[in-house]
Amino acid sequence: MLKRTHTCGELRAKDIGKEVVLNGWVSSARDHGGLVFVNIRDRYGVTQTVFDPANSPKLMEAAKSLRSEDVVAVKGKLRARPGSQINKDMPTGETELLAGGFELLNRAEVPPFEVVDDTNASEELRLKYRYLDLRRPHLQNILALRHKAADIVRGYLSRHNFLEVETPVLTKSTPEGARDYLVPSRISKGKFYALPQSPQLFKQLLMVAGFDRYFQIVKCFRDEDLRADRQPEFTQIDIETSFLDREDIYNIMEGLVCELWKNAAGVELKRPFDRLAYSEAIERYGSDRPDRRIPWELQDATAVFKGSGFKAFAGVVESGGIIKAINIKNRADKFSRKDLDAAGEFVKSYGAKGVASLKGIEKFLSDKEKAELKTKLDIKENDLILLIGDKLKVVNDSLGSLRVELGRKFEAFDNKKIDILWVTDFPLMEYDEKEKRHMSLHHPFTSPNPDDLKLLETEPAKARALAYDIVVNGSEIGGGSIRIHNREIQQKIFDLLKISREEAKKRFGFLLEALTYGAPPHGGIAFGFDRIVMLLAGTENIRDVIAFPKTTSASCLMTEAPSDVDPVQLKELGIKIS
Ligand code: AMO
Repeated sequence: MLKRTHTCGELRAKDIGKEVVLNGWVSSARDHGGLVFVNIRDRYGVTQTVFDPANSPKLMEAAKSLRSEDVVAVKGKLRARPGSQINKDMPTGETELLAGGFELLNRAEVPPFEVVDDTNASEELRLKYRYLDLRRPHLQNILALRHKAADIVRGYLSRHNFLEVETPVLTKSTPEGARDYLVPSRISKGKFYALPQSPQLFKQLLMVAGFDRYFQIVKCFRDEDLRADRQPEFTQIDIETSFLDREDIYNIMEGLVCELWKNAAGVELKRPFDRLAYSEAIERYGSDRPDRRIPWELQDATAVFKGSGFKAFAGVVESGGIIKAINIKNRADKFSRKDLDAAGEFVKSYGAKGVASLKGIEKFLSDKEKAELKTKLDIKENDLILLIGDKLKVVNDSLGSLRVELGRKFEAFDNKKIDILWVTDFPLMEYDEKEKRHMSLHHPFTSPNPDDLKLLETEPAKARALAYDIVVNGSEIGGGSIRIHNREIQQKIFDLLKISREEAKKRFGFLLEALTYGAPPHGGIAFGFDRIVMLLAGTENIRDVIAFPKTTSASCLMTEAPSDVDPVQLKELGIKIS
């Protein structure tokens, strides 16, 4: 075999005159007035080769039979392209390889879609033939970026004394709030392993074991409803530390995030990152992951609608709900009746009944009410005012999401800007109407804020946790907390969450026991690595940053997993499908 001397991406003007061999895939073959031009691609780039009958008629015939995606080796002398043919969009575009020797390494079938970046093949087809899809430079660049990001993370954390330690994949349920993926045991029939939703319990045990600074780039598994930025198996940069407080953790993690953005995206982030209390985030943006690049904030207009002539909102106030509004500056003329209907449909998925525009309800309002709104919302000519009235949570969820939706639609912000912040002081728990008990907002090992211990006795939902999220451009890229290292406090939290002693012992007795053997004060964080790579790569689709991703229905179109299994396997496991 003719072995390559260079990659298809590296030849430049300085190499002109060299004898080289390239190996790669045919990305295009064109017959031009007797010459055949064959572009050869590998993951480093594309180089144009030329087959000239004057040079060798036999080679020319072979070149004519080439089809896209054939695998070839081409040997020859690199020459300058004539001035008119220099391609400035191609890094190798000043040169071309005049073929003097050639080897067909393998034929390719006609691919089901053309391997090019601006493909219009459906995503289903591309996922089925993912190995062809992955030949596209766009995806190859993203996976190279992903590797680089992992490398930066390992470098930074190693320099800061963190050790990468692996934790089990066949394990016991870790409570992160999603459903578990279960694996049946053959040896212990009727028993199951759970795939980890995160290494949370193990990283805390590593702190008890004295490891002090742990990290792991690790797969986590969660059986939950999928969204554009969620996969059933995803990767975390998982981190835990001992003897550090929140400030120390913010500091080290800001260093990591800055190094990632600087070295992987060439972007200098300003430190320290802003901080916003959870309660303020919800109040102003209706969301605990605010995208502050969008200028409009939520304003509470409940007081204005008390006893209002607009009965729907007056009724909401009466029944203890709230009314919030956003002022979308100077865009009323860009928002049609149809847009309003679409917004109404959009908020329904967040539980709201609809959206009102001020223009639509004005006729029901008194002059006083109109004047109050005008001052409160600073309304000027051509401002678009949208309002939602409902229960507090519904209003925040729906109007908060609509704010982001319309911010994108109106392109109301500078796409190049990066908005990064810590959201802090999450509530420790919230009351779940369905379950009729308090539930942890993070996980049950999160430490309450010591200033709020008293509140745990009286109004537990008001107690703050030592928990924090890190948010970039409205995406939650990480979250963590200081943990409970004291067994009594841990027991108290379980009591509040109505997790019985028996159940706690059964589910995480090993952790509770470990806490009694000298657990150091500890805390940590986990970053969503896929989401970080999405932001670095500027893609909104999590599947773009994962080599072999799953669809929104959690299946792999290439392997067809999940799939039926052999009845013999089921029998061995003692499982019957009903
Ligand atoms: P948490 O559940 O917040 O914390 O997860 C940490 C980060 O992981 C990312 N993430 C996901 N990414 C893609 N697909 C998913 N299905 C998915 N779920 C979560 C998010 C999130 O911020 N053990 C704790 C961390 C800790 O307390 O140290 C944990 O797992 O970016």
